[in-house]
Amino acid sequence: MFQSKIAGIGFYVPEKVVTNDDLTKMMDTSDEWIQERTGIKERRYGQKHKETTATMGAEAAKIAVKRAGITLDDVDFIIFATLSPDYFFPGCGVLMQRILGINGIGALDIRNQCSGFVYGLSIADQFVKTGMYKNVLLVGSEFHSAGLDFSTKGRNVTVIFGDGAGAAIIQPTKEEGKGILSTHLHADGEHAEKLAYINPGCHTGVHLGKEQFGYPEDEYGGAFLTEKMFKEQDIFPNMDGQFVFKFAVTKFPEVIGEALQKNGYKPEDIDLLVPHQANLRISQFVQRRLRLRDDQVWNNIQKYGNTTAASIPIALCEAWEAGKVKDGDLICLAAFGSGFTWASALIRW
Ligand code: ACO
Repeated sequence: MFQSKIAGIGFYVPEKVVTNDDLTKMMDTSDEWIQERTGIKERRYGQKHKETTATMGAEAAKIAVKRAGITLDDVDFIIFATLSPDYFFPGCGVLMQRILGINGIGALDIRNQCSGFVYGLSIADQFVKTGMYKNVLLVGSEFHSAGLDFSTKGRNVTVIFGDGAGAAIIQPTKEEGKGILSTHLHADGEHAEKLAYINPGCHTGVHLGKEQFGYPEDEYGGAFLTEKMFKEQDIFPNMDGQFVFKFAVTKFPEVIGEALQKNGYKPEDIDLLVPHQANLRISQFVQRRLRLRDDQVWNNIQKYGNTTAASIPIALCEAWEAGKVKDGDLICLAAFGSGFTWASALIRW
């Protein structure tokens, strides 16, 4: 068995900066409300007709590949995590593959929302450990702004999310005690709809009751998208914010603790915790619970908002560029999100 490591990381965010004040021109909200509840000051939005989830992923991937000291031709497997894909199908993995010109290798799309990057890292880790692949390209990318409700009805969700992409190359390492020490994956579908983008889909009301969605009675057709969905604008993500908050602040410390315990470490041993950038208040809560110093936690949600599957690789890459992820450091990645799913990874860099 090999040990695996993150050999190169990169991120890409679109140029367009959207401030909280910009959002007040579209919906009834305020800079004060958004900053107080989420810590977010601004986010980036992709350029329509030019950028997509796959193109942003490709940009981040090129940087990660270069930093890993390989070429695109060396990549032998792709894992792509997103909840805002270019197409309903096929997935973004093959679209990014086409852009990068590395057709032929396997491309796996995963749908684990905010935990997507850590889930993907765990998959890559298993493939590399067994010797099946040597240069796995893992990408988390989101183009949220194409699917948000910019009316006041959608303000509780819309103000939180931003666009961007992060990527990593996972390779084997022979360095004793270094690399990905362990990964921990969890899910609980009990509260699947508490943070969800339900339509379009084939559910025809099965999970939540038919009445709510007004599906036609005909046996054939009209299930993914109905007129009623459009008329009632039931085509956007929904979130029970307080419910999500309560779960997140329990599951983050739990799954971080699990990773530390598995490897015989304590919170004070962490050099840097890179939590999924869900909400600054959630990160601060987790930091207090684990009694971590400010310099042990990396937050950048203030600049980018919540970029779901991209948030951890963007934050990790930014921290690395700032010299906060150094050779030999103990790095903990932790995520919680829709599903609910939650996950952690402990890495000796
Ligand atoms: N601007 C102004 N007012 C708003 C906005 C907004 N953008 N959004 C909601 N409000 C209003 C509501 O309408 C409500 O008004 P009312 O009292 O007149 O009915 C009031 O603010 C309070 O609404 P709540 O939804 O109860 O707001 P809350 O204090 O819970 O804050 C928030 C909302 C920030 C989403 C909070 O619940 C939270 O942090 N939840 C965690 C969920 C989260 O972070 N999700 C991120 C994505 S999930 C993930 O990545 C894990």
